[in-house]
Amino acid sequence: MADASYRIEVLHGVNLNMLGYRDPAIYGTMTLPELQVRIEEFAVELGLRVRFSQTNFEGELIEHLHRLREEADGIVLNPGAWTHYAWAIRDALEIAALPTVEVHLSDIKHREPWRRVSVIEDLCVASVTGQGPDGYRVALEHLRTALQQARR
Ligand code: DQA
Repeated sequence: MADASYRIEVLHGVNLNMLGYRDPAIYGTMTLPELQVRIEEFAVELGLRVRFSQTNFEGELIEHLHRLREEADGIVLNPGAWTHYAWAIRDALEIAALPTVEVHLSDIKHREPWRRVSVIEDLCVASVTGQGPDGYRVALEHLRTALQQARR
């Protein structure tokens, strides 16, 4: 399979539609549509196909994850604050059973104590934190490597 046929689902969780209006010192100034343009560029460079979605409703993300078994080869997931406590999203990710890379724009391991915990971390092939928008490129690279290794 050519890399370009890998279907990567990029999922943005709660409050990420407000990028550009959140603390720029932590999240930068890019809006979500601008970030998605950047991610699309990374994907083209890496020969991957990406599809995006964002929701502020936990059940919506869970149902989206349920559908992905049939629709995607890998996931890039930034759950926002759900990262730190949403066990139902963790279960849904386990059910999706797809290689997943967790991304955070900010460095969650060096922020408030409650943000240092990720309930999805151990299900992911990699976690990329604190690299801003470029973290999504790193995430796509990790995912491509994981998918190529699984193919062998
Ligand atoms: C975030 C970090 C989370 O702690 C926070 O709740 C977010 C964004 C990040 O990308 O840095 O909404 O996931």
